Amino acid sequence: MRFLHSTLALSALVAPWIVSAAAPEEATPSPAVAPAAPTTAPATAPSTATGPVTWADFVTSCQTPGQIALTYSEGPSEATMAMLETLREADAKVTFFANATWLQYMQYAGVARHAHMDGHLIGMTYRLPSDTSTGHTDDDLKNDIARHSRTIQDLIGVYPKYMKVHESNLKDVRLLNLVQSMGYTLVGFNLDEYDYKYNTAATAPQIADVYNAIFSKQMDAFGRRASYVVAGYDVPSTGAAAGLPKVINTIQTSGYDMVRLDGCANDKTPYKKDPILNNGYVGDAKSFGGADYKHGQKAVTYNPNAGGKGVGSSPAGGNGGTAPGEGKSSQDGGSLKKSAAPRTMAAVSTLLVLPALVCAYLL
Ligand SMILES: *[C@@H]1O[C@H](CO)[C@@H](O)[C@H](O)[C@H]1NC(C)=O
Repeated sequence: MRFLHSTLALSALVAPWIVSAAAPEEATPSPAVAPAAPTTAPATAPSTATGPVTWADFVTSCQTPGQIALTYSEGPSEATMAMLETLREADAKVTFFANATWLQYMQYAGVARHAHMDGHLIGMTYRLPSDTSTGHTDDDLKNDIARHSRTIQDLIGVYPKYMKVHESNLKDVRLLNLVQSMGYTLVGFNLDEYDYKYNTAATAPQIADVYNAIFSKQMDAFGRRASYVVAGYDVPSTGAAAGLPKVINTIQTSGYDMVRLDGCANDKTPYKKDPILNNGYVGDAKSFGGADYKHGQKAVTYNPNAGGKGVGSSPAGGNGGTAPGEGKSSQDGGSLKKSAAPRTMAAVSTLLVLPALVCAYLL
């Protein structure tokens, strides 16, 4: 309930036009996640204004109707390799918001590098050390953010620009203003794929039904495609990896175009020059507009009887995370175990927070 109150407080604070955020909907995904307005909303241009952050400053849709940007937060995890395999088969690109805390573990670091090399956009997640900015100076916070950013840069050679602030910190206006003043682009969503709810091999295929319901509703109401920024979770306790093949096939069948967030935002420079300073951005060959930029997708094979790809029904996420050619010493196994417990906890807290937050995001 604390989360709900916070969320409603935030809604009142920064989004007074959200008047219907009263009751969190948990059971029925399709009516709960209304499609975005069919307009090409000017939602994606990163604001350079110095005023307080509002939801309008978050990227929640794309510049071009028909685009869909899948994003996955809180990885890398045991689920990531399965997702990368599926995405490679589909020749499709997404955005991963890496949680830099996990990158101190060798196999997760390898997975993040792998995702970047495969041409996916890497952003960062950020969660305040004590879940509040109170008691921290601006410099403390900047340095903490920069520390995580540098961890990612050590792996992929560039500083992330697109940032997903952890759910429990979205009410922290001071943090939001700070990261925006540092030149980070805040990312929200307008489609929740409910992977934390459809989190078993048996239910993961229903994630695609969420997309399908939203696409159909949009088409019925407006006769044309909208654009979507999708929130998913790259943690093994969700159905994101198992549900992905069918999700891609649904996107393909419905005529949408899968894009990274830079393609979604028409942003040729999706990385920062500096982890702290707001002194400009850089792109690379795989960035929007670059020679190796890739969008779109192909249908992938999907066998529902096998429970989808990579993720079994075990809560540990099955064997999907084993990367061929990724060195695994017994020492690595040790760190993996050590990190497994907090991963599960993170997913559980997400479960509690999200149904309420979905309402706050409905614009
Ligand atoms: C990564 O996730 C854990 C669990 O939610 C959290 O404690 C930690 O602060 C996160 N790290 C970052 C950089 O957000």
